[in-house]
Amino acid sequence: MEASMEQKFQEKIDNDIRIEPKDWMPEKYRKTLIRQISQHAHSEIVGMLPEGNWITRAPNLRRKVALLAKVQDEAGHGLYLYSACETLGIERTELIDQLHTGKAKYSSIFNYPTLTWADMGTIGWLVDGAAIMNQVPLCRCSYGPYARAMVRVCKEESFHQRQGYELLLTLSKGTPEQKEMLQESVNRWWWPALMMFGPNDADSPHTAQSMAWKIKRFTNDELRQRFVDMCVEQAEILGVSLPDPDLKWNEERGHYDFGEINWDEFWNVVRGNGPCNKDRINTRVKAHENGQWVRDAASAYAKKQSEKKSVSVA
Ligand code: 3HC
Repeated sequence: MEASMEQKFQEKIDNDIRIEPKDWMPEKYRKTLIRQISQHAHSEIVGMLPEGNWITRAPNLRRKVALLAKVQDEAGHGLYLYSACETLGIERTELIDQLHTGKAKYSSIFNYPTLTWADMGTIGWLVDGAAIMNQVPLCRCSYGPYARAMVRVCKEESFHQRQGYELLLTLSKGTPEQKEMLQESVNRWWWPALMMFGPNDADSPHTAQSMAWKIKRFTNDELRQRFVDMCVEQAEILGVSLPDPDLKWNEERGHYDFGEINWDEFWNVVRGNGPCNKDRINTRVKAHENGQWVRDAASAYAKKQSEKKSVSVA
């Protein structure tokens, strides 16, 4: 009997054949990709705000240039991902509206305030570190445009993580006040960084299907565990302690055991009640409105160009 379209599709996935925009795909596959890629893009764009807050207050030109470059990269990642998302047949304006009206999520981590200069280093080390852990497997995602976008994004994320860690290494060799600022920052960002990987697998409505479709190559818990294992040694080099009394090497498992995440806090932030949720969206809406003239000018110019072209062809 002829294999159904779904069966043929799943065979392609099982044989690691990339799915491209013009290929047939189950509506649910398309929808979950739009959901994940658009929220990923929103995270990149909103993620510019916490760090943008410190560009004018960087302690020297070298730090300012690195931070400027990083924030600019995040904008590029967002635009890259919106373009990948549009290949699934959704308009950019609709995606932006979903963010501004709260219909779409973005990573919870960006709803926390950046209170000290050390936060710029901790974000690079932990937030971009977690992003890299989660994004490298996405370079092998079954959907072609998303996987290809991730290759360049991951290369730039490595610079983000490196510059953050180096900033913290400098503080770790500084004055007692700088060491204290470093430790206080890590205390605030450690647990929210673990939340970036999403709920435990048992509580994740999407992971099983995303694994079957090879959108995800590892589960939330697997990536979170790898991240914890990697950070413990890095924290030792910085001379900081991670704020988890249950963190302990488990010889049998070959991994670090760690404490329970505060899932009430996680869902509270995801539902819009984090310290900065309202401020982040208001800032995004205002920036979008203030940029209307740029979009109008660009489309007027594009229209003029196409009129010129059609006249010259006629
Ligand atoms: N913040 C906000 N929402 C979250 C979340 C988080 N940290 N973790 C999970 N969620 C949401 C999911 O979006 C989903 O809600 P939805 O159905 O309304 O979309 C729900 O909680 C259940 O979570 P699942 O784990 O079942 O959902 P996913 O299978 O989509 O997994 C994910 C969540 C691991 C974040 C996955 O979507 C993913 O890998 N996304 C791509 C990477 C990404 O978006 N990273 C965010 C940070 S980007 C970044 O840090 C940029 C860097 O430059 C700093």
